[in-house]
Amino acid sequence: MKHLLGLEGMSATALTRLLDVAETYKGVGVGDQPKRDDLKGKVVVNLFYEPSTRTRMSFGLAARRLGADVLDFSPSGSSTAKGESFIDTAKNIEAMGIDIVVVRHSSPGAPHMLAKYLHPHVRVINAGDGAHEHPTQALLDIFTIRQRLQRIDGLTVGLIGDIMHSRVARSNIHGLTTLGAKVIVCGPTTLVPSEVERWGVEVAHRLDDVLPRCDVLNLLRVQFERQRSGLFPSIREYRLLFGVDSDRMRKTKPNVLILAPGPINRGVEISPEVADGPRSAILDQVTNGLAVRMAVLSELSTST
Ligand code: NCD
Repeated sequence: MKHLLGLEGMSATALTRLLDVAETYKGVGVGDQPKRDDLKGKVVVNLFYEPSTRTRMSFGLAARRLGADVLDFSPSGSSTAKGESFIDTAKNIEAMGIDIVVVRHSSPGAPHMLAKYLHPHVRVINAGDGAHEHPTQALLDIFTIRQRLQRIDGLTVGLIGDIMHSRVARSNIHGLTTLGAKVIVCGPTTLVPSEVERWGVEVAHRLDDVLPRCDVLNLLRVQFERQRSGLFPSIREYRLLFGVDSDRMRKTKPNVLILAPGPINRGVEISPEVADGPRSAILDQVTNGLAVRMAVLSELSTST
């Protein structure tokens, strides 16, 4: 694997291998556990054109725990404000001698463009491109499911909420279906794109019918920043129809696993009791993100 641009088209063998490699990075550099030097002498650039808390810090820490030098770019305070283009910025950073670019951008395909225009030795990781893909988020979601439920094959996973604008949903759909899970997407009709059925998922619009069938519920944030107006009625109505709270938890399987990519909007897609409750693996996801990202960084840096 040269770049990690998305999970679409990745084989079950390749996905399982990444998850297995990630197991071996659990806890690296934490407390007394030593760091590793897989990326010693390498430079990793975080090129983030959109806001991020978890993904950016997780890639930065993962790279440092493997011995890399990390450069952090954000457009504000950079020459983007003076009109420099995305590719010119990337080429100038490349000229400093870099090995891996982790890129987040509002345009779908931005990471693919870097993979095409940067020097062939540079590896590119997609950390979210518009509403297209967010492969490491889906990998850490799947890793967390496997850790808690010991398998992926045969599980039913509900992706709930704003499917239309969610790169997390797309990457999860590709990864989960390839690994043999059944995926049900459920959200308001205006926020579920018609093409999703082509990806082998079931589409539903009534959450209460879906709840008893799911082993995992991944609660997606309503991405107001990506929406045209008119797609979303009101927060109150959304919460009534699609918010998961203690009442709705009574309709789920008793051992249902609750995931959310974060940031969560407490009281919209998830209530505080559910987010902080015993079925929630939301903070495990964040912890697991480090192992998954170390695995991806290390695999790419050794690939030819
Ligand atoms: C997601 C993203 O940016 O796509 N967050 C993340 O990376 N953890 C989802 C979101 O913003 O809701």
